[in-house]
Amino acid sequence: MLIALFLISISCISQKKSTGENIQVDYQIQSSYLLLPIEESAPEVKIQVSSSESKDQPAYDVHLAKNHIDYWVPLDVKKWMGKKITLSFLNTTDKISGIDNIKPSDKFDFNFNETYRPQFHFTPEHSWTNDPNGMVYLDGEYHLFFQYNPFGSMWGNMSWGHAVSTDLVSWTYLPTALMPDSLGAIFSGSAVIDVNNTAGFGKNAMIAIYTANGKTQQECIAYSTDKGRTFTKYAHNPVLPNPGITDFRDPKVSWNEVSNQWVMALATKQTVTFYGSPNLKHWTRLSEFGDGIGSHAGVWECPDLFPLAYQGKTKWVLIVSINPGGPNGGSATQYFIGNFDGKTFKADALPYPLWIDYGRDNYAGVTWGNVPKQDGRRLFLGWMSNWDYANQVPTVNFRSAMTIPRQLTLVNNGEHLVLNSFPVAEMNTLRTNISEKPDMEINKQALISPLLKTNNGCYEIEMTIKPQVANVFGFELQNTKGESLKFNFDLSTKFFSIDRRKSGRIDFSDKFKFGMNAPLVKKDIYQVRLLVDKASAEIFINKGEIAMTSLFFPTEVMNQLKFYGEDAAWKVENIKVNNIK
Ligand code: FRU
Repeated sequence: MLIALFLISISCISQKKSTGENIQVDYQIQSSYLLLPIEESAPEVKIQVSSSESKDQPAYDVHLAKNHIDYWVPLDVKKWMGKKITLSFLNTTDKISGIDNIKPSDKFDFNFNETYRPQFHFTPEHSWTNDPNGMVYLDGEYHLFFQYNPFGSMWGNMSWGHAVSTDLVSWTYLPTALMPDSLGAIFSGSAVIDVNNTAGFGKNAMIAIYTANGKTQQECIAYSTDKGRTFTKYAHNPVLPNPGITDFRDPKVSWNEVSNQWVMALATKQTVTFYGSPNLKHWTRLSEFGDGIGSHAGVWECPDLFPLAYQGKTKWVLIVSINPGGPNGGSATQYFIGNFDGKTFKADALPYPLWIDYGRDNYAGVTWGNVPKQDGRRLFLGWMSNWDYANQVPTVNFRSAMTIPRQLTLVNNGEHLVLNSFPVAEMNTLRTNISEKPDMEINKQALISPLLKTNNGCYEIEMTIKPQVANVFGFELQNTKGESLKFNFDLSTKFFSIDRRKSGRIDFSDKFKFGMNAPLVKKDIYQVRLLVDKASAEIFINKGEIAMTSLFFPTEVMNQLKFYGEDAAWKVENIKVNNIK
C-alpha cells in the first residue's frame, strides 16, 4: 500500500475519477511534458486538457495505447508548471491502460536517427504533418507553418506547426502556432505581411488566413505582431462564412497591385474561386475558374496564384492540387499558365492537365509570399507524400517530410511553356566530398560500386546523358539486398518513368507500387540531378523541365549505380556524386 501511494505521487497523479461517461485525472505539473503512450491501431480517445484558467478547451483525438505502445508523444505542459491540470478522457468508461501509463518527463526523445528520417528535408520534430501552410518571408526569416497533428504520427487534430529558416535548408522549430478551437480544426491556408496595416492589427503584422474545419469549412484570420511567435485569433471569425459549398478551403492570399486589394484564391469543390478584400476582414466574390479545363478527377485543394516573368512579360500561374486524380494515381498538383487582371484568371491554350511534379510524392505545395523584390525568386515547397498511403508509410516517431524548396520559373521545353522547378541554390551549400566519375559509353550495362566511400543515404548525383541513337535506357540505384529504384528513359513512347516496385518495403499499402510516368521531350542531352535523402528521391531533368519526387524505403542504403541500355549504346558524362550533410 505504501509503495502504491509512493508511485502515485511521483507520477504526479493526484486524483483519478470517473464522472458518468468521462474519466478525469488531475496532474500537479512539475515537469515539462506529460508523455502519452500511442498505439496507432487503438481507437481514438478524446482528451480534453483543462486548468483553472482554461476551461472548455477543445478535445484532442488520441490513439491512446490499449494493448501495446508503438511510441510516445509529448503533451507540453510547461506553461502550467507548479499548477494543477485535469485531463478528461471523454466518453471513456472502459479501461484503457494508456491512461495509467501517462508519465511526466522533462525530456522527450525526438529520435532524429530513425531509419527513414530525412536529414536535409524538413520534418516535424515528432508526429504527423501534411500540407505546408502560411509560407511567408519576414525580416530575414522564411516561415514554414504546416498541417500538424501534435499527438501522433497519423492525420488528426489539425493545427499549424511552425518553423523558421534563414537559408531554406536548416530549420528552427517553434511552438505550435494555431490549435483547433470551437470553430473547428485549423486546415490549410496562407500568411501575409500587412505592410500598410490594412487590417488594423498593426503595421507589418503577420496575418494567417486559414480554413476552420468544423460543421462547415469557413475562412478565418489570426494575427501576430511578434514575427509569428504568437497568434491571436480574430474575435469576429469567420471572415468568409461558408456559402453552402462542402469543399470550401485552403485560402491563399496575396496583395494584388492591379486591383489594389487582397486577392484570395480558394478551392471550391472542383474550381478555384477568387475573392477580394481591402482589409482581410470583408471579402467579395470576384470570379471563378476551372470549369471544363484541367483535371477534375478529384477534389481541388490548395490553390496558389502568382506572377512569373517570361521573356520580359508578366504571366500568371495558378497551381491547384487535386486528390485523387493525379497523373500517376492519388494526389498531385496541376497548374495553369495565363493572365490575371486583378479579378479574373484566364488560362492560355496549353495541353492541360500539366503537373508541377510527375512523381507520386509532391502534394499541396504553394509558394512563399513577401520574398524581397531584390531576391525576386518564386519559391515553392510541397508535402512529400500522397494521400494514397501517407498514413501507412513505415516511419514511427514522425510521418512525412516536405520536398526540398524549389525555385519556379517558366521555360519552353521545346514543345510548349512549362512551369519549371529546380532546387534552390542554397541546397548547393550542403554538398560535401564531391567525387567525379569517368565518362562512360553504356552498351548493355555498367556499374559504379560503391557510389560513395561512406554513404548514410543522403547524397546527390549529377550527370549528363546523351542518348545518341538509343531509345530505351536508364539507371538504377541498388543495394546489396537486390533492391533497386529504377529511372527509365523511353524515347519511343516519350515517357520518363520511375519504378519502385523492388525498392524495399512496399508492403504497407497496395497503392505504393504504382509506377510513375512523366512526358518526355526528345532531346540530344538530358542533364540529370538526383537528390536522395534516406527514403526519398527527387529528380530534376534539364534543370527542372521535368521534376519527379518519389518516396522509397530500402532495407539497406543504396550505394550502387547501375546504367543499362536496351537497344543501342548511349553516353553518360560529367558524373558527380556528393554526400549531402
Ligand atoms: C490537402 C488537404 C487540404 C486541407 C488539409 C487538411 O492535403 O486535404 O485541402 O486543408 O489537407 O489537413
